[in-house]
Amino acid sequence: MRAMAIAQPNIALIKYWGKRDFEHNLPAVGSISITLRDLFTEMEVELDERLASDKLTVNGSIDEKMLPRLSSCIDSVVGVDRPRGKIVSKYNFPVAAGLASSASAFAALTVAAAQAAGKPSSVAELASLAGRASGSAARSLFGGFVELENCDNSIALSTLRESDTWPLVVVVAITDTGSKAVGSTEAMEISRKTSPFYTNWIERQNDDLDTARDAIVRRDFEQLAAIAEHNCLKMHSVMWASRPPIVYWNSATMRCLQTVRRLQRKGVGTFFTIDAGPQVKVVCLPEYAADVRAAMAETEGVVDVMVSGLGEAARLVDSS
Ligand code: PMV
Repeated sequence: MRAMAIAQPNIALIKYWGKRDFEHNLPAVGSISITLRDLFTEMEVELDERLASDKLTVNGSIDEKMLPRLSSCIDSVVGVDRPRGKIVSKYNFPVAAGLASSASAFAALTVAAAQAAGKPSSVAELASLAGRASGSAARSLFGGFVELENCDNSIALSTLRESDTWPLVVVVAITDTGSKAVGSTEAMEISRKTSPFYTNWIERQNDDLDTARDAIVRRDFEQLAAIAEHNCLKMHSVMWASRPPIVYWNSATMRCLQTVRRLQRKGVGTFFTIDAGPQVKVVCLPEYAADVRAAMAETEGVVDVMVSGLGEAARLVDSS
């Protein structure tokens, strides 16, 4: 009744923003992401009939704020009539700060909970369950370049390219380690209900997915860079035009974008993307990783820099 799993966060290059079915947490659009290698979440789940309630520790401290979401994720994997669980989680990066910690957390939790309950499930089933807890988590069940497609009442995932066949590097420029003010679920609903750009965003997403998929298949870095930056800025435009406006950026976020533009002018193969937080994820070809890292670290307002290659799918680890 005990199992441990590890999962890496993923960074969307073509973003998911908006839900078509709030109750089942189904995304309004497909998305394409890269799974990281060096940032991780470890989740250990121990189901125990003697426990009166679920208990969660995050990096050694009791956490009651995140517990309800984790409990309902375990319910959906194991069933509501289940033994309560001891959940022990470890992250090697800041939690809930726009670094996709929910993606790696729910991916790892789903894998660990299914195993702890003795419920072997296919990757597709696990991805669908993880996606109910956090839309982006479904993608961390897969490694490398991952596409999430919208199907009737469900999602379908596939790896477009394995990580070792195009080993891009991601430099994460951290500009603020605090938790974000508005969670992505709430922010997506505000955008859906109020942003004048929302419908256009949904209508044009398939074009962006086609362009990015083609770039990944052909390993065309310039094409991928252009469409990923465009899609990211379009998503943030949807947010900015919402009422109330949703602005995750700070002044250092903008300075990071200027640093990326400066590198690009010098011929460095790199591009940026930004999620529901102020951090800037800078993707580059491996030969430029050291230059990009140094330039981001020197950018005013950057408090920390993390570097990661591309990684593998969520998986069980031996906890004995
Ligand atoms: O899965 P959620 O609810 O944390 O939403 C993720 C939203 C973005 O990170 C902004 C985009 C994405 O596709 O990951």
